Amino acid sequence: MIDWRTVSALLAGAAVSSACTIPTEPLGNNIAYPFRAQVQNATRPEVHNLYMNLLEAGGGDRHLFIGPVGVPTYDLTLVDGVINHVPNGVRAVIGGEIDHTTKLFMTGRGDYRAVFQPTYACNPDTDELQIELHFVTWQNQPTGGHICVRHAFENSHEFRYSPPGNTLIDVDRECIKVTLVVLPTTGLPPQSTTLSTSTIPATPSTSTTSTTPTSTPTGTTPSGAFTDLTAQGYRFLGCAPEERWTTDGPFRTLSGATESSDDMTNQRCAAFCTAQGFKYAGTEWRRECWCGNTVAATRQPATTLASLATCDYKCTGDQAQFCGGDAWLSLYERCEAGAVCENVVFT
Ligand SMILES: *[C@@H]1O[C@H](CO)[C@@H](O)[C@H](O)[C@H]1NC(C)=O
Repeated sequence: MIDWRTVSALLAGAAVSSACTIPTEPLGNNIAYPFRAQVQNATRPEVHNLYMNLLEAGGGDRHLFIGPVGVPTYDLTLVDGVINHVPNGVRAVIGGEIDHTTKLFMTGRGDYRAVFQPTYACNPDTDELQIELHFVTWQNQPTGGHICVRHAFENSHEFRYSPPGNTLIDVDRECIKVTLVVLPTTGLPPQSTTLSTSTIPATPSTSTTSTTPTSTPTGTTPSGAFTDLTAQGYRFLGCAPEERWTTDGPFRTLSGATESSDDMTNQRCAAFCTAQGFKYAGTEWRRECWCGNTVAATRQPATTLASLATCDYKCTGDQAQFCGGDAWLSLYERCEAGAVCENVVFT
């Protein structure tokens, strides 16, 4: 294993040389010093040189996003090729949801892991030596494929895995192939422990190519994050988890009635649940509507702005609305007759 001092010396040496020289010694697949993961694709400025952030996603899992959502994370490590975040007891895995790509996220559970090989390479902008995490395999799956990022919520991109020979193309949701780069963060302040989109990331002192990700202002709810149904007598409660993101409770958060449609919108779902006599209406996976009369304590949505990020699937019936996500419900509650009907405020 290569230690931090050696890396530091190598990187410093590279900074003063005029061309990138790749060391002949191969890198092991463990990185014990803390690092931040930088995203590079020099032809795609919307993602190039931004960072991988962690977003709490229920059940202790962390979803992986490029800002503005998620928490800047400076203390990743690599264990046998697998990205770990020890403070949260999670490591990078692939799975859960498959459309034209599959989710790359972090969990403490036993999902098949994403395995990387640290590799020396030259920075595409500065030609300085850097350590890249080259994707090797999805554990127990064929070797190959690549990591990509797909536009998600607001300005954010979520991390995905595209398998080898992938021929499924969703023209509306391009997944941009990216390189993950190890930025050692020794000497930087520890990661903030509070989940907030207003966390101001420190600029890694070891990077000469970093771009500080933009952050969203606090106290405002991003426009379009949910559909205002208050005129229809429903208020938005937030993005609520299904069983996959929790540790107990029923399989379905809303188990009263359901329908699925190419014309799904939040209005349609609320009207459907009202007609069926239910109090709660939730849209999910672009085209599903679920109704119920109770929401268990473990399934209550959070009220942080960041928590809205996982309900980022556009409705099949209206691309300007979000209809939940991958095992996440855009959750609405019917207002009491005569009472003030207001959406939850997200901070
Ligand atoms: C940048 O993204 C495009 C689109 O996914 C891809 O074709 C290209 O190979 C990527 N470049 C790098 C260096 O990953």
